[in-house]
Amino acid sequence: MSENIRVLIVDDLPETRENVRKLLQFEQDIEVINQAGTGEQAIEMAQADEPDIILMDINMPGIDGIGASQRISELVPRAQIIIMSVQSDSDYLRRAMMAGARDFLTKPFGGDELVAAIRRVYDKRPTITTTRPQYAATGAPAEAISEKTTGNVVAVFSPKGGNGCSTIAINLAVGLAKEGYKTTLVDGSLQFGDVSVMLNMKPLTSIVDLSDNVNDLDYDLVSSVVQQHKSGLNVLLAPPRPEMAEVITDESIKSLLNSLRPMYDFIIVDTSSSLDDITLSILDTADRIILITQQNLPSLKNVSRFFDISESLKYEPEKVYLVVNRASDKKGISVKDISNTLKRPVVISIPAEDNVVNSAIDQGIPLVTGTYKKRPVSAAINKLVNHVLEDLAKNKNVEDKTAAEPKQTSGFLSRLFGRK
Ligand SMILES: Nc1ncnc2c1ncn2[C@@H]1O[C@H](COP(=O)(O)OP(=O)(O)O)[C@@H](O)[C@H]1O
Ligand SMILES: [Mg+2]
Repeated sequence: MSENIRVLIVDDLPETRENVRKLLQFEQDIEVINQAGTGEQAIEMAQADEPDIILMDINMPGIDGIGASQRISELVPRAQIIIMSVQSDSDYLRRAMMAGARDFLTKPFGGDELVAAIRRVYDKRPTITTTRPQYAATGAPAEAISEKTTGNVVAVFSPKGGNGCSTIAINLAVGLAKEGYKTTLVDGSLQFGDVSVMLNMKPLTSIVDLSDNVNDLDYDLVSSVVQQHKSGLNVLLAPPRPEMAEVITDESIKSLLNSLRPMYDFIIVDTSSSLDDITLSILDTADRIILITQQNLPSLKNVSRFFDISESLKYEPEKVYLVVNRASDKKGISVKDISNTLKRPVVISIPAEDNVVNSAIDQGIPLVTGTYKKRPVSAAINKLVNHVLEDLAKNKNVEDKTAAEPKQTSGFLSRLFGRK
């Protein structure tokens, strides 16, 4: 089998395609296998030729580069897309990444830059197969992972999407890291995780790259997959495409989180709002669950059901912190009503500040640092950080708890109804 990296060039301008081809012509291991002049052609050629790398222009008549990338990501998941564009603003970048692109080159670029991007993306292409990622094969002395668990796993969950889970998980993690705690943020919303987009990071590596080694993680392997955000936070991203998440099971996510415990003080997990086996496994493994609600009836109803479920699952009441997000005095249901109705304390109310939260996300910067750190919404998240620290940093007896945890292998519904 040839080891060549097979490249498809997509651009509506023939001169641009030719220039790109020329930049690659002397690279022994890179072979331009085809060229497409439209998004439609690109989709056809990607299916027919299955290239390793697609260099994709954004602005094209007809289906543009974003649309073509989206389609190709679904149809030919093994093809890795690198966007080429004159626009380099973060909005473009984010749209491209959401469409499944793995990297971004700003035109005009030189040969070195192009070749480096191709090799980087090719080397980091996701291993959906069972091959161990190559960085694990270095034979470097693996830091032995003791059985002792120290780090705390904190899951952020809302039974309803759009309540602010990802926003809170990200900012809680950044806040803890800022306090000097070794913290990693795990995007546990494996299929449709938003962390990479919200932090403006490229999912070049993801949790899937650890899936073969969940019981056998060493520090070298984890550090080669965990990415560092510019705030200093370590992030374990969700894979760029939903189908890649299939290799992660409820058992493997649990092993993975437990294996991260010796390496971090805090492992913060953003979760998906559907209470499936994966989410449930994360919630089971977590020492604390931050349960997000808003001041409206549907949220309240869902949270109330979640408390019923958490009782059936024998979660201790102190395991779940109730947090009201987008809180406002002007809403029909007050924070006090929520607490009274649910018979649970509301640990923190995070005010609604649409402009601040949206611009922070647009700029890919966390609320608790930089420009926004003095805003009421940021102050409330800092309170949550302190609450977590007061509760958990003092009380590090997570070891016994995880050891005593009953082994649960049956599905979620059968557990709820007590069947094996
Ligand atoms: N406290 C807040 N004030 C204003 N807008 C918020 C707040 N928290 C979250 N949002 C907005 O709500 C939307 C959903 O947030 P997100 O964190 O993605 O929710 P989830 O992960 O639960 O689906 C985002 O547009 C975010 O900007
Ligand atoms: Mg989310």
